Amino acid sequence: MCGIVGYIGQNDTKEVLLNGLEKLEYRGYDSAGIAIENEQGVNLFKVKGRIAALREKVDHSVSSTMGIGHTRWATHGAPNEDNAHPHQSASGKFTIVHNGVIENYVDIRKEYLADVTLKSDTDTEIVVQLVEKMYEETQDTAQAFRKAVSLLTGSYALAMIDADDKETIYVAKNKSPLLVGIGEGFNVVASDAMATLRETDTYKEIRDKEIVIVRRDSVEIQLLDGTKVERDTFKTEIDAADTEKGTYDHFMLKETDEQPFVIRKIIQHYQDEAEQIKMEPAIRHAMVNADRIYIVAAGTSYNAGLVGKQFIENLAKIPVEVHIASEFAYNMPLLSEKPLFIFLSQSGETADSRAVLVKIKELGHPALTITNVPGSTLSREADFTLPLYAGPEIAVASTKAYTAQMAVMLLLAVDAAKGKEITLDFNPLQELAIVANAMEVLTDQKETFETLAQSYLSVSRNAFFIGRGVDYFVCVEGSLKLKEISYIQAEGFAGGELKHGTIALIEEGTPVIALATQSSLNHSIRGNVQEVNARGANTLLISMKGLEHDEDAFVIPAVHELLTPLASVVPLQLLAYYAAVQRGADVDKPRNLAKSVTVE
Ligand code: F6R
Repeated sequence: MCGIVGYIGQNDTKEVLLNGLEKLEYRGYDSAGIAIENEQGVNLFKVKGRIAALREKVDHSVSSTMGIGHTRWATHGAPNEDNAHPHQSASGKFTIVHNGVIENYVDIRKEYLADVTLKSDTDTEIVVQLVEKMYEETQDTAQAFRKAVSLLTGSYALAMIDADDKETIYVAKNKSPLLVGIGEGFNVVASDAMATLRETDTYKEIRDKEIVIVRRDSVEIQLLDGTKVERDTFKTEIDAADTEKGTYDHFMLKETDEQPFVIRKIIQHYQDEAEQIKMEPAIRHAMVNADRIYIVAAGTSYNAGLVGKQFIENLAKIPVEVHIASEFAYNMPLLSEKPLFIFLSQSGETADSRAVLVKIKELGHPALTITNVPGSTLSREADFTLPLYAGPEIAVASTKAYTAQMAVMLLLAVDAAKGKEITLDFNPLQELAIVANAMEVLTDQKETFETLAQSYLSVSRNAFFIGRGVDYFVCVEGSLKLKEISYIQAEGFAGGELKHGTIALIEEGTPVIALATQSSLNHSIRGNVQEVNARGANTLLISMKGLEHDEDAFVIPAVHELLTPLASVVPLQLLAYYAAVQRGADVDKPRNLAKSVTVE
């Protein structure tokens, strides 16, 4: 959460910073600010709200070729202008932006800053005031910055400027993501390469507890003790076009539409010349050797994990537990003797998941991260990584990463089955290709879902999703999609469980969305639909070709029964999308949320 960007070069920095922050808005969007430096000093512009508001507030007549910017998701202190970044030291000499959480800010305040009057409620201001304190002793900014940073515990990506030096941006990183982009006559700093793709495709990775001195024509990476570190550059594979909405009204719709292509890309990347699954032998070995797999994730990724468990248990016959990351870290179950941990995370930065990864690494257990961002923290810190190849997912509500996670877990499960010499009677790559075609058929029927959303969800304040078997897991995901973007209170239930309490909430007209894609459960889920209908529910039943009845509202194309979650979620994503649009909600940036949740 929170995004930072910095630029030092020849061009006007305002546009670079504002464009960059727009690309980082997915990381938080409750307040924003930039600080730009020129001959007259440091000019600070801050707003409560979005980058669009910041764009209006900035004095566009002020020119500058260096500056830093920030978009915030509040952790310490309410989202208001005082707490918006950048923050300045008491004298105004130092100005800083920060992504992360300084865990020892109370101690630092007591020990070093008792005589300083703070201007905000943030942990970040402590850092910039601390640099100023250290500067009083050292009279050297680089040294003061290093000294201050070495006193911090917690997570931080920091970029700082000095009002008396128009040639340097001081950068530091620990646990929060940060890259330095390299250009000719300029350099940039960003939480994510997406922010600065217009400027450069060449980056240097910055590692934890490193400091970077960024100038117009040089980038110097140092350890906290000042030792210089050499680091190669890498080219980002992100295509700038992937970060634009194009003709779509919202990223969520674009990303929902991209799902068939993502599945095809996964098939392509995970297929060898013999059209068999291509998997690192070490990953297969880790899977086959595990006596139990623990899938750890949050939100939508957790929901994908529930489906992943079905794949692994059904195909590779390895027992799997799926855990909510934020619970697991502090309430660890009894572990098996040879566990393998799988971290599922679109962003690869989720702090709740990382807390578990740190703990299980301390215990010496192997970890595999399945993520859309291969260079991310969870990917770097695990033993193995499997990429999702979904391309940047910008809408806060996850769509294509969810289906990609399930597809990759399917291939992992099939490969492990092969490693265990289990003969399977289906070709996963072919079945995934059928899923991709089905997804295309579904995304081509947007008008239908727009109409269904209008008929079923336009006036209700709540909605229930019911399904059995894997349909239940998709219902949990469908309900999360609906609630997070439309603000309709929604819950996903196992069809048979409703009558044990929740059915009390069904009244005349209550929308119930039911999934019926499993032949062995078709009869029983339809029985559950009868139960809610008898109590007045307005039921929208989505079934699968071959299992349909006349009264069904929508029938998805036939796919392999184990893989139905990849197809049946598409109607639910589109229903949620149109329900949110029809209510005038901000689909891509729902209230109170951020895409990358880097605080526990
Ligand atoms: C909901 C959504 C979130 C994320 C969750 C974990 O649409 O996207 O629930 O799934 O915050 O994020 P990652 O997958 O980045 O670890």
